[in-house]
Amino acid sequence: MYRPLKDMRILLTGTSSGIGWHLALELTRCGAAVLATARRRERLDELVQTVRSKLGDNARIETLAGDITSPAIRQQLIDQAVHSWQGIDVVINNAGAGAVGRFSDASPERLREVMEVDFFAPVELTRLALPLLKQGHKPAIMLIGSVLGHRAVPGKSEYCAAKFALRGWGESLRCELQPQHIDVIMLSPSTTQSEFFDRLIDTPANIRNKSLGSMPPAKVARAARLALQRNSRDVILSAGGRGLVWAGKFFPKIVDRILANYGQPN
Ligand SMILES: NC(=O)c1ccc[n+]([C@@H]2O[C@H](COP(=O)([O-])OP(=O)(O)OC[C@H]3O[C@@H](n4cnc5c(N)ncnc54)[C@H](OP(=O)(O)O)[C@@H]3O)[C@@H](O)[C@H]2O)c1
Repeated sequence: MYRPLKDMRILLTGTSSGIGWHLALELTRCGAAVLATARRRERLDELVQTVRSKLGDNARIETLAGDITSPAIRQQLIDQAVHSWQGIDVVINNAGAGAVGRFSDASPERLREVMEVDFFAPVELTRLALPLLKQGHKPAIMLIGSVLGHRAVPGKSEYCAAKFALRGWGESLRCELQPQHIDVIMLSPSTTQSEFFDRLIDTPANIRNKSLGSMPPAKVARAARLALQRNSRDVILSAGGRGLVWAGKFFPKIVDRILANYGQPN
């Protein structure tokens, strides 16, 4: 099945930077109507200006600023989509945040916060959107996961847990929703050059900025747009990412040993 994006009504989270910013550009360029959200309002205004400067005033983008972990904001997003478009065809859960450092040094609050942003928020936003998706045109839910949701590494236990949980939930939902023709698409980037490592949750400054050898966010956004159009099931980006997942599956003990020796946080 090919999913044309023209006139698709798409709710996209995490659009103030990185992958989400570029994905908003990709989707509007294809003629989709995009409701873009993140906390930084000025960045969302800048995104609208950028889209309009590239595509003209007829480009279909609107925004709502707010914290995606807030139930009230999630409901406002749904209400705005209904008000503007009378429905939703696609939800893309992209907003996310990480944390780096040993589990034994970290607080319970850090775990809660990472799980709120990376797991509970996308799950609960999707719950609210489901009645609309059931009425949607070629409906889909896209989850931006991570290679670390396939193979965990040391020093990112909370983030790995959240992305594993997201993937498990998405896999279950995919089967549940198949009879209703709602697709669930999982896209798992590897390290991406974005603001992600500058905005880590409760992470000491000396272990920040580890984004070496990473993919440009525009490339990840393009892959996400293609996965949506081609209705891919589960996409792992980058050869390195696929290599890690493959090795972790077939040689788990060797990968454990290598990560224990060379992959520890500072
Ligand atoms: N960068 C990587 O290496 C990498 C690798 C694999 C997967 N990913 C995943 O890719 C996705 C996008 O990340 P990115 O690399 O593009 O990072 P990014 O540049 O930091 O973008 C994250 C986006 O999420 C939004 N966000 C974070 N917390 C939020 C909250 N509580 N409420 C609302 N919006 C929130 C941010 O906006 P505001 O701060 O303005 O709210 C921002 O727009 C995430 O799900 C991430 O886990 C990233």
